[in-house]
This record gives sequence, structure tokens and C-alpha cells, in this order.
Amino acid sequence: MIKQDFVTGMRLKKKKIIVTGGTSGIGLAIVSRFIQEGATVLVADIREDLNGIIGNLASSSGNRAHFRKTDVSDIAEVKEMVGYAIEVMGGVDSVVNNAASFTFGEVDTLDYQRWMKAISVNVIGTANVCKSTLEYLKKSDHPTITNIASISSFIAQAKSLPYNSTKGAIAQLTRCLAMDWGVYGIRVNGICPGDIHTDGWYERGISRQKKIDPSDPEGFIQEASSMSLMGRVGKPEEVANLALFLASEEASYITGAMVVIDGGATIAMN
Ligand SMILES: NC(=O)c1ccc[n+]([C@@H]2O[C@H](COP(=O)([O-])OP(=O)(O)OC[C@H]3O[C@@H](n4cnc5c(N)ncnc54)[C@H](O)[C@@H]3O)[C@@H](O)[C@H]2O)c1
Repeated sequence: MIKQDFVTGMRLKKKKIIVTGGTSGIGLAIVSRFIQEGATVLVADIREDLNGIIGNLASSSGNRAHFRKTDVSDIAEVKEMVGYAIEVMGGVDSVVNNAASFTFGEVDTLDYQRWMKAISVNVIGTANVCKSTLEYLKKSDHPTITNIASISSFIAQAKSLPYNSTKGAIAQLTRCLAMDWGVYGIRVNGICPGDIHTDGWYERGISRQKKIDPSDPEGFIQEASSMSLMGRVGKPEEVANLALFLASEEASYITGAMVVIDGGATIAMN
């Protein structure tokens, strides 16, 4: 029987969850939402918890937020991080692979190092975390993996080849893992956001705008808003709600799915 606890809102009560890239943007919104719903979360990020955000979440949640500085592309660091997660949480029920390298460019000018950065963080980094948590996920009574992909997993965008091709690979990694690990009861799904207003998204937009039309520094916000059928860009909290659903038992028959959250932008593209 599916356990549902709508009354208390504790949809992830007692769940132990690793979120990568969780010190900012979409990752941080997911961490906060999961904690609200009763989970204990280990945030693994290459950046230090600079403003003490995860520390503050720990204080306000009865120590249900933990942090480990980790580069997901380094398997030794990932194994060490998972060991720490077991030490402080006692297990792993779910993983959210959200960390990303935003590497853009064209194939004729892209050097090997930048290619490797995109592949090693986005694709191999995701696989590293899945591989290192498998033995603990197998012990969970409701194990899930959620990979943050993108609409860039399936649309073409100018000068975005490394990012888009690695996001496409995450979609296939998600489907293949769902197939291989379904036997352990592990549900593996992906989320494909469109434009979501995070600090990182804003900074990336500003630097692109400087190249295409510096006279209108925030023109990219209008451009992105007009592509959505909602007339606006998305909020990190909206992606967090979807991540919550996929990690919860309400999504018990969903696996291998790539769920688009883009305000309808991609259905309106032609
Ligand atoms: N914001 C958007 O519009 C949008 C759209 C589609 C998909 N996404 C995806 O959502 C996710 C979060 O995006 P965001 O906008 O919140 O970006 P962000 O830059 O705020 O967050 C990315 C996080 O990943 C961390 N990170 C980077 N490299 C790492 C590494 N090697 N190891 C561990 N952590 C690392 C960063 O420190 C950062 O905290 C990404 O996977 C991104 O591709 C975002």
C-alpha cells in the first residue's frame, strides 16, 4: 500500500537524500523543499557553503541538513562524500543529480579540456553518484534517483553543443539506469526545465546578452518570457515541487520518464 501523508505535508518523512549542486539555484530550492517535507539532506557541492545557507537550514530543521564539499566528477571525492552521508544520515533513500557544468561553444573552437569538463561533470559526475550510492539505495524501501536534465536534452540551441549534448546524454543515462536498476525497485527519472530564474541563469543570460545586444542588458529575460506559454520564466521552487513529487511515493509507478517543466515553451517552438 502507498503511504501518503498529505495531512502533515511530510511527504519525505525520514527519507535520507543526497542533492548535488545544492548550495544555489534549483538545487537549493530542492534541498529546502525536501527538508520542509521531513527529509534529511546531504548537500554535495564543489562550492563551499559560503553564506552558511546549509548551516542555517541545519539550525532551523533540527540538524536535517548536512554539507560536504565535493567535485562530482572525481570518483574518490564522491565515494568519500557518500561515506560521510552514511555516517551522518545512516543511509541513502534518494539522490538528486543537479550539479552541472555550463560549458558552451562550437565544436570547431572547443578545446579538449572544456569538452572533458562538460562530460566529466554532467555525465560521468551523475554516473559517479549513482554508482557510489547503489549499495545503499538497494537497502531502501523506496529508492529513487532524479537527474536534472534540461529542455536542452532534446532541442538544438546555437553555440551550446557541449552543454546540450551532455544534457542529452543524461536523458539516455536516466532511461538506461531505469532499465538496469528497475530490478532493485529503484525508480530513475529526469527533469527537463526550461528557463528558470536562478542567479546562475541570470549571470549566464547577462554574459550572453553582452555579446548579442549590450544596449538591452536584460533583454534575455523578455526573450525567455515570451517563449513560455505562461509569459514568464519559471521559479526554482516550481522545479523543486516536481522533484518532490518524483522522489515521493506518489510517483510510485513512474520510472524512466523525462518530465518537462518549461511553461509550454517547447511545445510552442517550431
Ligand atoms: N536555470 C535554468 O534555467 C535551467 C534550465 C535547464 C536546466 N537547468 C539545470 O538545473 C541545474 C541547476 O541549475 P541552476 O540554474 O540552479 O545553476 P547553478 O549554477 O545555480 O547551480 C549549479 C550548482 O552546481 C554546482 N556544481 C558545479 N560543478 C560541480 C561539480 N563538479 N561538483 C559538484 N557541484 C558542482 C555549483 O557550485 C552550483 O551550486 C543544472 O543541472 C542545470 O543544467 C537549469
